[in-house]
Amino acid sequence: MTTTSTQAPVPAQTPDSVPLLQASGVIMRFGGLTAVQNVSLTVNSGEIVGLIGPNGAGKTTFFNCLTGLYVPTEGTVSYRGTVLPPKPHLVTKAGLARTFQNIRLFANMTVLENVLVGRHTRTREGLLSALIRGPGYHKAEAKSRQRAMELLEFTGLAEKAEHLARNLPYGEQRKLEIARALASEPGLLLLDEPTAGMNPQETRATEELVFAIRDQGIAVLVIEHDMRFIFNLCDRVAVLVQGQLLVEGTSEVVQRDERVIAAYLGEPIAGEGETGEAQPAATSAAASEVASAAEQPAGEQPAPDEAAPADDEQQENDR
Ligand SMILES: Nc1ncnc2c1ncn2[C@@H]1O[C@H](COP(=O)(O)OP(=O)(O)O)[C@@H](O)[C@H]1O
Ligand SMILES: [Mg+2]
Repeated sequence: MTTTSTQAPVPAQTPDSVPLLQASGVIMRFGGLTAVQNVSLTVNSGEIVGLIGPNGAGKTTFFNCLTGLYVPTEGTVSYRGTVLPPKPHLVTKAGLARTFQNIRLFANMTVLENVLVGRHTRTREGLLSALIRGPGYHKAEAKSRQRAMELLEFTGLAEKAEHLARNLPYGEQRKLEIARALASEPGLLLLDEPTAGMNPQETRATEELVFAIRDQGIAVLVIEHDMRFIFNLCDRVAVLVQGQLLVEGTSEVVQRDERVIAAYLGEPIAGEGETGEAQPAATSAAASEVASAAEQPAGEQPAPDEAAPADDEQQENDR
């Protein structure tokens, strides 16, 4: 009997990979401004997909359309073949969870409590049960706490379980947002600039965390400005420019696409080399420029107002 050679496990795009998220012809208009113009995008099970594009390209607006915060002007969003109702709590219940570009934690609640809040869509115990506090409530509560602690272990925050969210350093607040999103037991996690404001070490740790999340069977769609992070991590990358999907493909293809270099990475960023030509070498120079810019905790951040720590209670809208 011959033993077929065993290949290294490739979690992404296995033959039984199925479409999870299917956004089709999504348009979002605000008065005269079309922030998202006819965008179609699929995320399959087992995939990590990146969404990149300059500030104002419509990335967050697209996430808001996917997660029910905005009702798209046109188009549909399906998850596992079912059209999602444009209501955030129903979207979460269906299996999509997200983090926000502007961190949204309950600042005056503990780290553990924030994760417990994220579990409420998955717990059956209702208000009445909570008021009566019968055996069912206590059992469910104990189970929720156990799962929340597991998620804090997973994200490296277990030792801070009893700290107030507001007292966490910025990078840990971002991790806590991820832990809270995972608490709804999603099949797809959407991350909006998860490394904004992080130092290089924290960024690398977040990369590992995203791989670990995928290894648990959760697909990921991630918006990020740090090109190194994106191209290391993603199976596929979609580029949004002025609300339109400019190109979509593997990291290698997208990194070398001249339209991406011109429209997103941009010739001025190529700095050192300034050949004026969009060669692959210029791409990586430009990419690392963008990456190092994104790694600075303040100052050169793409959107400084987005990097404020959570000192308010959760807001309703991501604007
Ligand atoms: N609620 C809103 N009302 C009006 N304009 C909006 C709203 N949300 C986003 N926009 C506009 O849509 C465009 C895309 O914004 P956004 O999705 O935040 O871009 P990105 O996340 O790619 O930086 C911007 O011009 C922004 O001002
Ligand atoms: Mg944004």
